[in-house]
Amino acid sequence: MSVPERLTVAVGLLDLRPEDRVLEIGCGRGVAAGLILERLPRGEFVGLDRSEVAVAAASGRNAEAVSAGRATFVHTALADADPDALGRFDKILAVDVNVFWTGPAARELEVVTRLLRPSGSLVLCYVPPDPDPAQVTKVKGLLLTHLSDAGFIATATTHALADGASMLAVVGAVAQLPGG
Ligand SMILES: C[S@@+](CC[C@H](N)C(=O)[O-])C[C@H]1O[C@@H](n2cnc3c(N)ncnc32)[C@H](O)[C@@H]1O
Repeated sequence: MSVPERLTVAVGLLDLRPEDRVLEIGCGRGVAAGLILERLPRGEFVGLDRSEVAVAAASGRNAEAVSAGRATFVHTALADADPDALGRFDKILAVDVNVFWTGPAARELEVVTRLLRPSGSLVLCYVPPDPDPAQVTKVKGLLLTHLSDAGFIATATTHALADGASMLAVVGAVAQLPGG
């Protein structure tokens, strides 16, 4: 299976270091997981998805890394994920996981805050189904508002893909309190 360009671009935005701990929310069938694992010789990858079918497919696709203890796939909705069990991550990625813009996602972003290391970053990427620039602007505004409301500092960029589509990316970090 060829790797969609949107996933290559999204993984590039993670600015991975070889020893990073990386979480992917909504890992689907584990295609981005494979790309990330190639860049994590000393790191660790965890993928979570609310679809049991997706988790089984992702585990199968990345079976070697799972056997080696470098990758784990967890069947859970983000809102129900247990930060005490999963630990903390340097990078958290979600591609085309709509919960962050369709509503405030307060519970989901609270969980993300608990999963991120203090210097960690959250990367949310979307190829909006409706390419109308007004719709893309609307999604961007909603994402930035929801992240700000949850205590993140975030910036948005757009990336032109070869097929003419445009990918929206929002990179966020938890705002640090003075002295925190
Ligand atoms: C459109 S697919 C994208 C899959 C993959 N990220 C990709 O870009 O190819 C969205 C995936 O996110 C999962 N998902 C959506 N909302 C979720 C949530 N709140 N918690 C966990 N997984 C979620 C879905 O089950 C699905 O596998």
